[in-house]
Amino acid sequence: MRRERQIELLQRVADSGAHFAGLHAPESYVNDASAYTDDTRFAKEMRVLFRSGATFFSLSARLAQPGDYESATVGGIPITVVRQSDGSLRALLNVCTHRGAPVVAPNSCGSGLRSMTCPYHGWTYDTDGSLRARPLSAGAFDDVSKDCNLGQIAVAEKHGLIFVRASGREPIDVDTELAGAQDDLGSFGLDRYHHIETRTATWSMNWKLFLDTFTESYHIRTLHRNSLLPTFNSDCVIFEPFGRNLVSIGLRKDVLDETAKPQSEWSLLPYGTIQYFLVPSGLVVHQVDHVETWRVEPIDVRTCRTVTSIFSPTKPATERSQNYFVKNLDLLMQVTGTEDFALMQQIQANLDSGALQQLVYGRNEPPLIHYHRELNRLLETAP
Ligand code: FES
Ligand SMILES: [Fe+2]
Repeated sequence: MRRERQIELLQRVADSGAHFAGLHAPESYVNDASAYTDDTRFAKEMRVLFRSGATFFSLSARLAQPGDYESATVGGIPITVVRQSDGSLRALLNVCTHRGAPVVAPNSCGSGLRSMTCPYHGWTYDTDGSLRARPLSAGAFDDVSKDCNLGQIAVAEKHGLIFVRASGREPIDVDTELAGAQDDLGSFGLDRYHHIETRTATWSMNWKLFLDTFTESYHIRTLHRNSLLPTFNSDCVIFEPFGRNLVSIGLRKDVLDETAKPQSEWSLLPYGTIQYFLVPSGLVVHQVDHVETWRVEPIDVRTCRTVTSIFSPTKPATERSQNYFVKNLDLLMQVTGTEDFALMQQIQANLDSGALQQLVYGRNEPPLIHYHRELNRLLETAP
């Protein structure tokens, strides 16, 4: 992150007054509980946000080498993203054109992919999706005129970030999708990072609750009193919108030591958890010494799958330094799994009961206000 930008953001903290109230939003926002429980709304979210719109997939470093691949479900559509031998990426429908079986194990990943063979009758495809062989069929399909290559969807990468769109092949303009966040994100050199590990999990909660629990620091004091509170500030969150996206920056308590120094010496990076929310479902988190990414895949209105990756700035030279990053991921999964998502699942059950008609996002939760206001606007203005 550019130095002037770090100073500008820290100046906002220094100017924010008692309890950092100067960082608050101008007004709170009330949202209907049905946003988390209504099947009709969910179907519209899938159509508008996850099929017609581009979504963040991962960092380029996740699929660094030719033959690296990851299969996923985007907007309910099964896909596989594969790094080609020429270095480009291709996003294919993970659906055999014979009778629909997945040609790569669903929600899996790996390296060294040279071809894809359907487990049902053995049709085999090249990594670019073109049909290579229909073994032992004795010409039984020679009269078929339909295109038997795997379907393709749009994929694009820039600034070390990969985006896909589940429907159609219209090119994706990554800068348009980032809507200004590329100035910060480009400065982190994400394309030079190294992938350490990816983990997945399935949760009984609406996909938006995943983002809700990351966007504010207000809950640190209570929900994370034994884990994060000793280190992190619970009152302070720096928020800035980038079109429909946003950055939400949580700060360590000792940041006040930094703002007590002369401004020319200020540095934000050692104190900040800098979270870029890429609407609808992506999260890129710059931590002091590594990067984490999250992608949430909605399954139904009350079920979602999370895909979490950790990346190091350079390839770890020793097993010990590799383990350092793995332990960071262990801790992240433990805190989010046992504290955040455990509670989000209880919230989902409460909202499903119909006991609460509306939720309120307070002025001290500005990222949450922007995020839900933007989602509601995108859904309301969609055809
Ligand atoms: S469904 Fe794939 S080969 Fe038959
Ligand atoms: Fe949390």
